Amino acid sequence: MAERIEVLLSEEEVDKRIQEIGNQISKDYAGKQVHLVCVLKGGSFFMCELAKRITVPVSLECMAASSHGGDTKSRGVVRIVKDLDEPLGGKNVLVVEDIVDSGRTLSYLMEMLKDRGPADVKLCTLLDKPERRVVDVKVDYTGFQIPDEFVVGYGLDYDQKYRNLPYIGVVKFD
Ligand code: IMP
Ligand code: MG
Repeated sequence: MAERIEVLLSEEEVDKRIQEIGNQISKDYAGKQVHLVCVLKGGSFFMCELAKRITVPVSLECMAASSHGGDTKSRGVVRIVKDLDEPLGGKNVLVVEDIVDSGRTLSYLMEMLKDRGPADVKLCTLLDKPERRVVDVKVDYTGFQIPDEFVVGYGLDYDQKYRNLPYIGVVKFD
């Protein structure tokens, strides 16, 4: 099916907001090292941009979970596709995600990571769709709250496409 993309948040808006979150994280973690855990693939673009703007020491790792098929509806099943390589004991973990939608993926991941003995686990998401929440999840840092629309860009895909867009766009089907 043909689709087109309408800009929701411009590259400038997204970059400006990531700088603000980076400043806030640098303040909140003053004197500490922050261990970023990127949720692949969607969180990767955001994590790189965010990491560059954090001024406290940063270490990072990636993991992959899957809760979506090739369409715009969540299937509601969370699968760990790639786990972390290193233990989290004593680390100040900050999970970096592209979007919190139903909350299923993150509530599952946050509980799983908390059981691994970190000093602390917090959550940072570029986008949040609060209207879609099914499972409660505590978000510590949010880039933007957006309406209930399917979005792409900045790591987010539709059927694996559009992750590379440097802005956030809404997918429209005409
Ligand atoms: P949740 O478990 O329903 O919160 O879904 C989380 C995952 O679904 C995200 O990490 C995304 O990979 C995907 N997702 C949810 N909404 C969108 C969207 O609007 N565009 C692209 N992917 C989305
Ligand atoms: Mg994701």
